[in-house]
Amino acid sequence: MPTRTISPFASTSPSPSLDAINEKKDQSRRPSFSKNKFTSLFGGSSPKARSEAAALREALIAQQQALLDSPSPQQINSATLSLPTINLTTATGEKMPSEAKTIFQPPSPEEAKRTARAHAQFGPLGSSSHRYTSQFDGEFGDPIEDEPPYYFLITTYISYLILIVFGHVRDFFGKRFRRRHYSHLKERDGYAPLNNDFDNFYTRRLKMRINDCFSRPTTGVPGRFITLLDRKSNDGNKTFTFTGTQTETLNMSSYNYLGFAQSDGPCADAAEVAIKKYGLSLASPRSDAGTSDLTVEVENLVADFVGKPAAMVFSMGFVTNATAFPTLVGKGCLMISDELNHSSIRFGARLSGSMIAMFKHNDMRDLEKRLRDAISQGQPRTHRPWKKILVAVEGLYSMEGTMCNLPALVELKKKYKFNLFVDEAHSVGALGPRGRGVCDYFNIDPKEVDILMGTLTKSFGANGGYLAADKSIIDKLRTQNAAMLFAESPAPPVLMQIASSLRVITGDLCPGQGEERLQRLAFNSRYLRLGLKRLGFIVYGHDDSPIVPVIIYNTAKLPAFSHEMLKRKISVVVVGYPATPLVSSRARFCLSAAHTKDDLDRMLEACDEIGDVLQLKFSSGVAGGALPEELQPTDKESLRQQNGKPAPPRWQLEHVLKRGVDDVKVLLR
Ligand SMILES: Cc1ncc(COP(=O)(O)O)c(C=O)c1O
Repeated sequence: MPTRTISPFASTSPSPSLDAINEKKDQSRRPSFSKNKFTSLFGGSSPKARSEAAALREALIAQQQALLDSPSPQQINSATLSLPTINLTTATGEKMPSEAKTIFQPPSPEEAKRTARAHAQFGPLGSSSHRYTSQFDGEFGDPIEDEPPYYFLITTYISYLILIVFGHVRDFFGKRFRRRHYSHLKERDGYAPLNNDFDNFYTRRLKMRINDCFSRPTTGVPGRFITLLDRKSNDGNKTFTFTGTQTETLNMSSYNYLGFAQSDGPCADAAEVAIKKYGLSLASPRSDAGTSDLTVEVENLVADFVGKPAAMVFSMGFVTNATAFPTLVGKGCLMISDELNHSSIRFGARLSGSMIAMFKHNDMRDLEKRLRDAISQGQPRTHRPWKKILVAVEGLYSMEGTMCNLPALVELKKKYKFNLFVDEAHSVGALGPRGRGVCDYFNIDPKEVDILMGTLTKSFGANGGYLAADKSIIDKLRTQNAAMLFAESPAPPVLMQIASSLRVITGDLCPGQGEERLQRLAFNSRYLRLGLKRLGFIVYGHDDSPIVPVIIYNTAKLPAFSHEMLKRKISVVVVGYPATPLVSSRARFCLSAAHTKDDLDRMLEACDEIGDVLQLKFSSGVAGGALPEELQPTDKESLRQQNGKPAPPRWQLEHVLKRGVDDVKVLLR
C-alpha cells in the first residue's frame, strides 16, 4: 500500500464543499476577462498580435472549460480551479516565440485516469438545481397502486403454468431415462433426498432459465458505474465461464445511497489510516477482546446521529436483527410484524420464541385490529395478559419503495402502549433533511421509537448493523446478545469508514459535502420516479424513496428487460417470485447521490425504448404522471375514450427530460 501523508481527522481544514466549488466555477465564468481586457493583456493591436492573443484566449477558455467539465468532489481543490499563471512579459507586445503558442496544459494521462476513475465512482454535480431536500410534507397517504390490464395478469399466470407443466414433464422423463442426472432427487439406500422440494423444482426449472441475470460477478468499486466480468454459459445457465472481457455499466443496482462506495476520498484515506493503526481484524468477539476505542467511538457517533442515548454496533446487519429479538422478547410476548418485513426480522422473531402475528403491509387499520384482538384476548389458552407487545416495521421497504407510516404508528403506540422497533436498513442516511432516517423525515422525536435498528452496509458504504435505544436496553443487549458474545466484531477499517462517512454527513468532515450528497440523492430519487411515471410505467412506492420498483408482471420479460439494459450498458436488479408475489415481478432501481442527471436521462431513455418493445407501459394515470393541462388531448374522441378518467400518461421523452428538473420540486402528481 503506498505511503501517503494523510490525517483525515487531524485537521479541520475541509476539502472544499461542492457548493463552494460550483461558486468558484461561477466566478470563473463571470466576465472579469472581458474581451477588451483580454486583448489588451495579450498585446497590442497589430493583426498578428491580435491573432496570437486570440489563440491564447481560446486556449485559456479551453483550459477553464476542461476544469469545469471535470469537477470531482474529491479531486478538486482551489489550486486546480485558479486561473493559469500568465507571464506578463507577453503583454509587452514583443514578438512572441513562434513555437509556444498555447498555455493549455492537457491533463497528464495519469491525471486524466485518476479523474475518470473518481467520476466513475461519484459523478460531478451538473447544476445546483439538481438538489432537493428530503422531507415529509403534507398528509401521509398510502401510495396508490396502479394495476395493469387483466390481459397482462392472465398471461403472467399462464406463463407460470406452462413453465411448471413443462418442468414436471421433463422431471418425469428425466427421472426414468437420465437416472444419473436425477439421482440426488431420489431416495437412495434408504436415505431421503435432502433437496427434493418445490424450492428445488422452482430453482431448476424456472429460475435457472434466467440465472444469467442474477449474481453477475463484478470487479472494482460499486459506485456510479460498476464493472461486470463478462461470462457465458453453454449449458443453459448451469455453469458459467468468464470470457476474459469486462463491461463498465451504469450502476442502478447497489445500495450505495450516499455514494460512499469509493476507493479514494476522505473515508478511504481514513480507513487506510485505521488499518495502519489497528490492523484488519480485532480477532475476537466483542465481549472478549473485540471492543476497541474505535468501536466505542463509532457507537457514540451512531447514537448521536440517530438521536438515542446509546447504541451498539454489529459486524452484520442480518445478525443484528437475528440476535436482537431473542434478547428483547420471548415466551409470553407478542411480536406483531409487517407482512413484508425483511427475512432477518422474521428469522430473529422465530428464534425469540415469542408469538408472532402479522399485519398487512403498512395497513394501520389492520394493525389496530390486531392490537385490539391481542390485548382483549391475551395469551392463547390462558388468556393472561401479554408480557410485552413489540411491533416491528421497516423505515423503507426495499422491494416496494414504501416508507412506514411513522406518524400513525406513533399515534397507535400512544393509544395501545406497545414497544416499537424500526429497522432503518434502507432509510438511515437515505431519508430526512439530515439523513437521519424516518424520524428525521417525518420530524418525529426519536424518543417515540423504542428501538432504532439500521445497517451500515448501505448508505455508509461500510458493513454491519446497529441498535440504538435507551441505555438500559443497550446495556441488556451487551450482556445477553448472542452476537456480542459469539460473533466476530466489526473490523477496524470498516469502523473507520462508518465514522468518517457519518462525519461527512454531519458536516464535521468536508463541510457541505454531506449535505450535497443527501440533496442529490433526494433529487435523483424524485427525478427518476417522476420520469418513469410520465413515460407510462407502473412505479411502486413513495415519492422520496431512493428505491424505485418498476413493475414488469410477466416473468418472461424479466430476462428480456435485464438483457436489453445490459446491451445499453446499464446494470439493474430484476426480482421475481419468491421475493415478490407471483404476478408482480419487477425491476428495482436503486438511486445514489453518485448519479448525475445525465445518468438518469440515459436511464429514462433506455426505459422508454425498452418499455415500448416489451410493452411495459401499462400505467392508467391514477398513480400520477398525468400530462399537464397544456399537453392534455382536447379532441372529442380522446375525451370520450378517457371517460372522465385521467389520460394514461405516455409522455414523449423530450418533454419528460425538459420539465423534470422543475417538476420534481413540487408535489409529484
Ligand atoms: C430491512 C433490512 N434489514 C436488515 C438487512 C440485513 O442487512 P445486511 O445486508 O447488512 O446484513 C437488510 C438487508 O438488505 C434489510 O433490507
